[in-house]
Amino acid sequence: MIKEEEYKKRRDIFSKKLKDNSIAIFSSAKPKIRSNDTEYPYRQDSNFYYLSGFKEDNSYIVFMKKDNIAQSFLFVQKKDAKDELWNGKRVGKEEAKKRFLFDKILVSKKFKKFKKKLKSVYEVDKDASANVSLMRLIKSKAEINLIKKAINITEKAHHRAMNFDKISKKEYQLQAEIEYLFKKNGSYSDAYSSIVASGDSANTLHYIENNKLFKDEDLILIDAGCEYQYYASDITRTIPVSGKFSQAQKELYDLVLDVQKKIIKMIKPNIKRSTLQKKAEVLLTKGMIEKGILRGEYKKLIKNHKHKRYYPHGIGHWMGLDVHDKAPYKDKNNKEIKLQKGMVLTIEPGLYISKDDKDVPEKFRGIGIRIEDDILVTKKSYKNLSSNIVKSIEDIEVISSQLPKNLEFIRG
Ligand code: GLY
Ligand code: MN
Ligand code: MN
Repeated sequence: MIKEEEYKKRRDIFSKKLKDNSIAIFSSAKPKIRSNDTEYPYRQDSNFYYLSGFKEDNSYIVFMKKDNIAQSFLFVQKKDAKDELWNGKRVGKEEAKKRFLFDKILVSKKFKKFKKKLKSVYEVDKDASANVSLMRLIKSKAEINLIKKAINITEKAHHRAMNFDKISKKEYQLQAEIEYLFKKNGSYSDAYSSIVASGDSANTLHYIENNKLFKDEDLILIDAGCEYQYYASDITRTIPVSGKFSQAQKELYDLVLDVQKKIIKMIKPNIKRSTLQKKAEVLLTKGMIEKGILRGEYKKLIKNHKHKRYYPHGIGHWMGLDVHDKAPYKDKNNKEIKLQKGMVLTIEPGLYISKDDKDVPEKFRGIGIRIEDDILVTKKSYKNLSSNIVKSIEDIEVISSQLPKNLEFIRG
């Protein structure tokens, strides 16, 4: 849990960056229509939530700095029995005054007038959103604990996916089991649309149809992570439908796993993400040459982007309130931001070989593999926050062959 004092501290840090005689305004997320008059479940905007911990829509945060003294205002919807009957309880102004440590709480109805008045006197700070995003790069202890909690729940779901009976099942049935375990263990939502991609579907990077029947000989790429109290986890494991990897699958899997482990080991303060990216590209390209997937000299292949046909994406991204955390990769001088203690990023190399790729030995065609973990940068090195989620071939095969201990899990 994040305490009110921590939200206040964030506002104080933000206020210090605010120029004198200026204001900054943050609006809550807009509700999104799913179809006609039904909405998607509401989720607060991450920057807004970071500064307030306030979850309701139609709300505003205003910072105002005058004579170098900053004040923070939270505008909340007023209590309304009729609306609350349909759409749920609101905190309301009086309760918000007790709970939230803003300088002043007002009702949202007054926001428009208030803004107009302020705008005529003060400058609007254009860097406000970027400054909050920058603050979000370094996670506090409380934030790291929430990320760990999200990962612990996701761990149960991935392990369950390994020993789930996949015979005659479709991808979405396994997805249902994974997301059932998210909710069962206290996560309100997934952090992004789950990818459950078997066989050649794994070669579509953003595959979320999840509607194919499992084939015994296929691998399943599962990229699924829950959100816990607004914090994401982002985990990929690639597992065999049958519980046993074939020889060709083993070869490619171990190549990706070996690269992933080597890149994770490089993580420490002051290293650049682009250094990790380049190293991953070198290692994967050399591996692909060994396997006969690419032919030529590795430097030349990389220079000509030949490896991108099989490894087209980045090595990882910041993670936090958003799965792809809205934090910058470059500083104000356009220089790459180096890793620092308290940052959290994913490491997720992969190899994707289309079933129709005639340039690749036949045994590898139709195999897509990604392995993704969530890493915290520490004072001297790193901590793999998802190291409990098994990923060696041996461990995956062992879990896959175990019957679920909890009979509640054995369902149709
Ligand atoms: N799950 C999205 C990603 O891995 O970036
Ligand atoms: Mn990711
Ligand atoms: Mn992912």
